[in-house]
Amino acid sequence: MDTTTLGPAKGAKALVIGGCGGIGRAYVDGLLLAGCEVAVIDRPSAHQAAPLPPGVTVIACDVTDEAAFTRAIAQQAAKFGAFDVLAHVAGINPSQTRIAELDLEEYERVMQVNLRSAIVTAKEGLPHMAEGGAILFVSSGLGAQPEPTFGSYAMSKAALNSLVKTLAKEAAPKVRVNAVAPGLAATAFLTGGTGAGGQAGSLGYIDDLGELGARLIAAIPMGRLADPVDIAGPMLFLSGPNSAYMTGQTLFVGGGKVML
Ligand SMILES: NC(=O)c1ccc[n+]([C@@H]2O[C@H](COP(=O)([O-])OP(=O)(O)OC[C@H]3O[C@@H](n4cnc5c(N)ncnc54)[C@H](O)[C@@H]3O)[C@@H](O)[C@H]2O)c1
Repeated sequence: MDTTTLGPAKGAKALVIGGCGGIGRAYVDGLLLAGCEVAVIDRPSAHQAAPLPPGVTVIACDVTDEAAFTRAIAQQAAKFGAFDVLAHVAGINPSQTRIAELDLEEYERVMQVNLRSAIVTAKEGLPHMAEGGAILFVSSGLGAQPEPTFGSYAMSKAALNSLVKTLAKEAAPKVRVNAVAPGLAATAFLTGGTGAGGQAGSLGYIDDLGELGARLIAAIPMGRLADPVDIAGPMLFLSGPNSAYMTGQTLFVGGGKVML
């Protein structure tokens, strides 16, 4: 057991997809503190809205441009030699709509970013994983316990949880595959997303919701929204050697809201 590090070993090579966002950035900061080499793929608008610290390899690419996305993964794999850590953090929830009023075009978009690009990450990234490497996805508590108006988003994350299990069985024992499933976290996600007009650290979000916001908080045993570092800690743990016997797991990090 290595108690000197929470995350991957010093010098580990990590590619993070969606690393400019609130949770992604806290995770990237943790990887850098652990002494990892880090490359980040994110959409150009996110790199502009939330620039990464020096030393990180910046790759501006929208995951829905699949040809460019697969090329970016292959090119970074060639530069690194192999990935010790491959993390897919990118996700969107453009609006809240009941299933009866669902816009199927928007449903497709949510699936493309949240699920299809995760599958592409797995498919293209797995052959480049180092022995003992870790693949990590970011799911959501809603993937296990959906709420009204989050249909497309919850479906995408439920399918992602299934991808984690299948891929974990296929990739073992060489590579581990896990996910974290955050609850409400104070990031730009709550107000549109990083690079899509959302405000970083949207702590005011709950206040703006009035009575609904109070009900949302009351449903969280820890009584508050997550800070991005609350999510990044478990992500680092799942990325490193201290979780060497964990695979196929979705770890719920939602202040106790989801207990399975
Ligand atoms: N914040 C929350 O309350 C919350 C709760 C549960 C799960 N999550 C999940 O956590 C993950 C990170 O979210 P966050 O809270 O940091 O939000 P965020 O909006 O700050 O970060 C999301 C990142 O994904 C990137 N992304 C979105 N679409 C993309 C595309 N087409 N191509 C490339 N990159 C793209 C964004 O640019 C952004 O950097 C997401 O998967 C989200 O679903 C968030």
